Formats: sequence, C-alpha cells, structure tokens
Amino acid sequence: MGETTAAPAGSGAPDGLRLVSFAPGLDDAGQAADARTRNWFDAVDLGFHEERTDESRLPALVRAFQRDGRTLTAVYDDAAPEHAWDPAVPVATYASMVNDLNVGGTLLPAHLVTAVTVRPTHRRRGILRRMITTDLAAAKAAGLPVAALTASEATIYGRFGFGAATSSAEIQVDTRGGLDFNAPPAGTVAVADAAKLQALAPGIFRAHLQRTFGALGRQHSYALRASGAWGQESTEPDKGVRGVIRYDSNGVPDGYAAYKSLGWQTEPHTLKVIDLVAAGDEAYRELWRYLGAVDLVERVTFGVAPVEDPLPWMLANRRRYRVTGIDDVLWLRVLDVGAALQARGYFADGAVVLDVTDPLDHAAGSWLLEARGGAAAVTPAADGDRPDVPRAALGVSALGSLYLGAVSARTLASAGGIRAGEDALDMLDAMFSAGPAPYCSTHF
Ligand SMILES: CC(C)(COP(=O)(O)OP(=O)(O)OC[C@H]1O[C@@H](n2cnc3c(N)ncnc32)[C@H](O)[C@@H]1OP(=O)(O)O)[C@@H](O)C(=O)NCCC(=O)NCCS
Repeated sequence: MGETTAAPAGSGAPDGLRLVSFAPGLDDAGQAADARTRNWFDAVDLGFHEERTDESRLPALVRAFQRDGRTLTAVYDDAAPEHAWDPAVPVATYASMVNDLNVGGTLLPAHLVTAVTVRPTHRRRGILRRMITTDLAAAKAAGLPVAALTASEATIYGRFGFGAATSSAEIQVDTRGGLDFNAPPAGTVAVADAAKLQALAPGIFRAHLQRTFGALGRQHSYALRASGAWGQESTEPDKGVRGVIRYDSNGVPDGYAAYKSLGWQTEPHTLKVIDLVAAGDEAYRELWRYLGAVDLVERVTFGVAPVEDPLPWMLANRRRYRVTGIDDVLWLRVLDVGAALQARGYFADGAVVLDVTDPLDHAAGSWLLEARGGAAAVTPAADGDRPDVPRAALGVSALGSLYLGAVSARTLASAGGIRAGEDALDMLDAMFSAGPAPYCSTHF
C-alpha cells in the first residue's frame, strides 16, 4: 500500500490526480472512521446514488470492511475550484479483497474488485482504466490466479479481460394453499434467534461453499443482513427480517433462510427471501417446505436462485415455480492461466491447446491443458507442438466465461468468442461443462 501520483501515459487522465491505496481505518479513539476512510465512503455513496452514510454508522462499516481485509483505493483531484466539494473527497473509488472461489474440488483464492466509482465530472478520462490495470497487475504479482467482480453494467469490464461466468435466477413461487413436495419431510426447521443466526450463518455458508461448484466466500456483512442487524441497503437494523434454521436428522444446523414480508399492501401477499443458504439438497428442500407453508402468504420470491434449480423438480406441481429473470452474477478474469486451470476440477479426461489473447498480457500465450482423473497439468505450448491435440483460440474474457462451464464452448464459438474445430469444442465441453452447473449467490 502506498501513494502514487497518477499521471498515466496515454490514458487521457490529467496530470495531478493522486491515486492512493489504504486500509479502512478508525480514528485514534476507535469511535469514528478516520478522515480519509469517511471521505472514501462519501464518494462511494455519491457514485451509487445513496444517501450519505450517517457518521454514527461508519465505525461498524469500517470494522466489517477490516474483517473482509479490504484495500481501498481513492483518486484525488487537488485542483478543485472554489466552492466545490472538499478535495479530500476522492473523485474516484475502488476496493479489493480476497475470498475463496469453489472451482471444483479446490477453493481458489480470487481477487475481488468492488466499489468502482468515478465522479461524473471526471468520467471517460481513463481513471477507471488506470485504477483497474494497476490493481490487476498488483494482484497478479501477489500470486492471485483470477480476479472477479459483479458488474453494474455489462459493457464496462470485457475490455479489461473479464467475462460473465455465472448467472442466477429470480424466481417466484405460488404458495397459495401451501406447497406439496414429492419427498416426505426430513430434519427440523426452527425460527431463529437473530443473534444466534448471525453467529451460525458464516459456518453454514462455509459448508455450502465447500460443496457448491462456483460458490464464492462472502463478506462479513452477509451474516449481519441475514439476521436483520443491518438492512439490505444500509447499516441500520431491519426489524422486518425473520430467519429460520434447518437442522439435519442429527440436529446439526445445515441451512438457513432469511426473509421479509413485503407488507399487507402488496398483492398477492409476498415473502421476499433475502438469503437462503443450504449445505445440502435436503436442507434446501426443507427450507422451501417451510417458506411454502407460511400462513397468510401467497407468493415467495428469491432473487438469487440457481439457474439449474432442483426446486421445481421437488414440487408436486412444478408450475407453481416461475423464473422471472436471469442475471449474470460473477465476472471472472484469468490472471495466471497455469494456476487457474490447474486449480479447476474437470469432468472428463482430455487435452487441448488454448491460444489465448489478452489486451493486458497477463494470460496471453499458448497453453497445453491435459486433464486426467479430474485434475489437470498446464504447460506452455509452442507452435507445432502436439499436433495430435485439438486447438482453440480465444480471448481472455471468453476464457473467464468458459472457466466455470456456465456457458458451453460451443455456444461461445457460435457467438464468435472461440475459434475452434468440432473436436476442440467437444473436448472443451466434456472437460469444462459436463458436470454440475456453477452456482454463485455472493454479490460484492
Ligand atoms: C463505470 C465508470 C466507473 C467508468 O469510469 P471512467 O473513468 O469513466 O472509465 P474510463 O475513462 O477509464 O474508461 C475506460 C474504457 O471503458 C469505457 N467505459 C467506461 N464506462 C463505460 C460504460 N458504462 N459503458 C461502456 N463503456 C464504458 C470507456 O469508453 C473506455 O473505453 P476505451 O478504453 O475503449 O476508450 C464510471 O462511469 C462510474 O462511476 N459509473 C457509475 C458507477 C458504476 O457503474 N460503477 C461500476 C460498478 S461495477
């Protein structure tokens, strides 16, 4: 961490902007955010059109960020005119942290990018480009094989090598008269004590992460929001949030759901699921059995259900279940091809040469990927090496999309993202996509 002056050659940003990275901090008494952290939050609130965060709420936010191990980046313009906002408030913000991504068998540390804002008066001068290229180079140097983000707009990050890698479904379940399930009930579900749910949630999520391909470790705020200690959009408590815990037949907690009524004015009467985490299929089914049996409720909605959701197949009447939208969640950017591809689990044995292009050069090159028994070896490949092995040419953002197999190589090829013959496409699809679909419910 340190201070550098951003005078990015060729990026179009004006000289004199200062780019500084620091850890979120409290003042000496530990009672308030330190000045640069408070100013950073002010700038983020501006960028995302949020009300300014109340000073009294900042220490809890800072502590949560510290627990996440976040690094904050701020860009300052000291040349603010008279009457303008304090130049100590950054004109651009950025943050990063590291968390585990389940890439099939392995939990891979991923470099997570968040809180990206550039003030409207400073946009399209290359400030984002400066922040993200500096940060990705540092992440690569620190040995992180992939970077990830969740994007506000789909058009921003492809140019920096990110590809959409997982999606989730918005669902609506008609619960009028209750939901019937094909399987009998198992284990128990109890309404949770909010503080105890807050304490239990990270452990249950960890169990979910370990068994769910594509799942990503979560920031500290998730447990606070699931218990209502924080609201969905703020750090004020939300007293409308209710939680339930599911226990397996040995009495061990293996799932939870947090939900909120949308109020009597909403027709039909609706429960919105805020968070639902299951460490197994049975826990998932039993949490939905509970949600489907809440009296005075006609509809239950959930914004981040799996695209390959077992729920409709669990129901006696699958037409009670409707998908109302599909959204991309995780965008991945491969930084180190060898480390990223060797960490992944594979669904078939095989070999393929990948000719990867990368505008930032982190992943560029030709790579021989050989998978056997679920694991793979990756070695640089020269032209003419291994003529027996099929080849595929792709950009690094297509590699990010292919990485977790959410989209098939064949579909990417139809879209022009991969150039390869039928043999290479068949090989890639058998290796990358022929297993469970990835599911990531973590937004950051
Ligand atoms: C999105 C945002 C961060 C871009 O910052 P910026 O400093 O203007 O971006 P840059 O000037 O570095 O642009 C880099 C490139 O991305 C392109 N770009 C930037 N924002 C874009 C957008 N929203 N849509 C399409 N392209 C975009 C630029 O045209 C430029 O392209 P080029 O390199 O081919 O010339 C800024 O507009 C912003 O703060 N938006 C509101 C908050 C937000 O959406 N944040 C993203 C959270 S995931």
